[in-house]
Amino acid sequence: MAGPPPLVLGIETSCDDTACAVVDGAGGVRSSVVSSQLAAHRPYGGVVPEIASREHLANWLPVSAAALEQAGVGLDGIDVVAATRGPGLVGSLLVGLSLGKAIAYALDRPFHAVHHLEGHLYSPFLGPPGEAAPAEPVPERFTGLVVSGGHTNLFAVAGGAVETLAETRDDAMGESFDKVGKRLGLPYPQGPKVDALAEHGVAERCPFAVPKVRAERRPDRVDDGRQSLDFSYSGLKSQTLLAIERLERSGVPTRPDPAADAAGEPPFSQGVLDLIAGFREAAVGQLLDRLERLRREHRLARGETLAVSGGAAANRLLRRRLTAWAAAHGIDLRLVPLAYSGDNAAMIAHAALLRERRGERDDPLAAEAASRIPI
Ligand code: KG4
Ligand code: ZN
Repeated sequence: MAGPPPLVLGIETSCDDTACAVVDGAGGVRSSVVSSQLAAHRPYGGVVPEIASREHLANWLPVSAAALEQAGVGLDGIDVVAATRGPGLVGSLLVGLSLGKAIAYALDRPFHAVHHLEGHLYSPFLGPPGEAAPAEPVPERFTGLVVSGGHTNLFAVAGGAVETLAETRDDAMGESFDKVGKRLGLPYPQGPKVDALAEHGVAERCPFAVPKVRAERRPDRVDDGRQSLDFSYSGLKSQTLLAIERLERSGVPTRPDPAADAAGEPPFSQGVLDLIAGFREAAVGQLLDRLERLRREHRLARGETLAVSGGAAANRLLRRRLTAWAAAHGIDLRLVPLAYSGDNAAMIAHAALLRERRGERDDPLAAEAASRIPI
């Protein structure tokens, strides 16, 4: 039979979400189920690796059963199996990867051990959720920006080959949102909450600088010899934490007011909200600064595609700024649908489908999980 195989099962367990999806041969999402472990980790203010692994084991059966049922297919109707191989928490990765290997081996189906960032990278081409609309064709060449809790990366993609243009030297963008939110006593995951609160602040009243990063003159990095395109978020995070401390010392409450929260109002004073807005402005400003440099250096030209993905690509200010910037410069912007910005298995199945089309496959007996791996 000619053409791509009809159904791909995707499995993603790299961090704290247990996810399973069925994607068809046209990249249409037949089902995408994500079981969040928020309740299990919330008492600790962040992800506890040991708890995450155990939760994945407990969640797998109901999550996979729901994904198969929604897609209207049994396990034996699956043609290709894909699971995330890393990067991520090794104990968590092992659960999903072992399941994927076992299913592929038992059913004698092709297997793909997918890089988590490759999943994010191509996710902006997935169709809107709930319609099983075919994925959009992936251009031969495009620039990818992945912003998540663990990564802030710029990639140049050409025919399936991925080159890293820039990465963070320290914290990831999502991570800096989480840490600032944690300092303000917000529950995990803090990123979306910080973003929502920033909508109530005036960034200009509390400005933070966008950092420049010195070039390392690494042969595998494209830079102008003086200034790198790399990102850095730890300086901004520290400055924000210091500013919170200064407010605190001047008698301003920096913990959320439960009464205001219960009444549906922002649980902080205007000073804190302005500070949060200033932080977000600089965090997003840094991404736009690097993109604008790419454009000025003619490495991202009018008509070319920029695909933006990852959990922090849900950021409202980032989405507004990118949309305006891309429109002003004729960049073909592909923003990941919100349903697929955070970790999910549809993106893993989709990346596997693209690998399958390129004739790439993995041996289910040999694939190994790894916490840190280059793309
Ligand atoms: O891609 P993802 O689900 O997991 C990783 O691969 O890391 O990204 C999760 C990250 C978290 O740090 C979360 O706080 C952040 O994305 N995030 C946001 C927003 N929504 C999620 N950061 C900023 N603004 C948001 N709206
Ligand atoms: Zn991710």
